[in-house]
Amino acid sequence: MTTTLIDDIGLLVTNDPQVGELTAELRNAAVVVEDGMIAWIGDSSTAPAADEHINAAGRCVIPGFVDSHSHLVFAGDRTDEFEARMKGERYAAGGIRRTVGLTRAATDEQLLANATALVAEMRAQGTTTVEIKSGYGLTVVDETRALRLARELTEETTFLGAHVVPAEYADRPDDYVALVTGEMLDAVAPYAKWIDVFCETGAFDLDQAREILEAGMAHGLGARMHAGQLGESAAVRLAVELGAASVDHCTFLSDADVDALAGSETVATLLPGVEFSTRQPYPNARRLLDAGARVAIATDCNPGSSFTSSMPFCIAVAVRDLGMSPAEALHSATAGGARALRRDDIGVLRVGARADLVLLDAPSYVHLAYRPGVPLIHRVM
Ligand code: NIG
Ligand code: FE
Repeated sequence: MTTTLIDDIGLLVTNDPQVGELTAELRNAAVVVEDGMIAWIGDSSTAPAADEHINAAGRCVIPGFVDSHSHLVFAGDRTDEFEARMKGERYAAGGIRRTVGLTRAATDEQLLANATALVAEMRAQGTTTVEIKSGYGLTVVDETRALRLARELTEETTFLGAHVVPAEYADRPDDYVALVTGEMLDAVAPYAKWIDVFCETGAFDLDQAREILEAGMAHGLGARMHAGQLGESAAVRLAVELGAASVDHCTFLSDADVDALAGSETVATLLPGVEFSTRQPYPNARRLLDAGARVAIATDCNPGSSFTSSMPFCIAVAVRDLGMSPAEALHSATAGGARALRRDDIGVLRVGARADLVLLDAPSYVHLAYRPGVPLIHRVM
């Protein structure tokens, strides 16, 4: 078993509450990695010897990004919809059905190659854990294959059969909900860790969302929800009531929603790439943070509403337009994402945690927002 010492770290973000508040930073630090885990953290001048040595040369080192929301199993693209939105067209959930048609027609090899390339893009930008949803198959066979392929890329797989009602069920949506909660759930359960519902006008209503999440939880899956993307609704409070790990989008929130989130373990996951790519108003992170809610940032990488794989880009937008400080944005993109996946072994650098870390070509993580669009990822471990 080899050990690796990374020393001369100018600024180390640990996110460890034992070390300090929020980003819990150490200066002139060193880390020893053994067997993929962190074995030692401390001052660079007192670091023990190791088999391998990496000199960080004063760089900033952060935990790898945890992208807790993406839709990577799909075929084709929707460039035309993006162009139309930039000219003033509104985002509508109906575009999902176009990707469903293209995804059903693709081979396993095409879908896996596309998803693999996107995961590689993410990793090159510092993401070390990614959650991947199904939701562009919407038949028993196509949802099962999406999750089987996603499982080849991550443990964090989410069944989103309730993305939209597919065209062939348009005049009998209740039959589709019965399929999702019955035969489809049985088929996908071995490949899924989570279940998610798009609870919004044009997708699934509150009663359907409750039925679907409760069915998934009865199968041992953890609950998550897409809510508050297109308008305010009681969906956010339903997610909290059901103990969902995360409610994602949260663009439109009532005061009651903010209070419910703040008084719960449910993470509010903000997806600033969506507002960037749809010209919708940005969510107000300040309001959530000041109320004491737990907040995560994720890319929502998908061909419709947010086709970015870049967590640094999302951090820059979160600082510029969501009202977060650079430290809050970084914390949300690492420890926040880990919390949204109910993981305590990632998003934090402490002895015993996974040694998922990123060396930045910068003296501080503030540069992620201060130098937007600049490739600052020196090395990903
Ligand atoms: O998270 N909102 C629902 N689902 C995706 C968009 C999917 C699509 O437009 O293809 C989202 O934004
Ligand atoms: Fe999404």
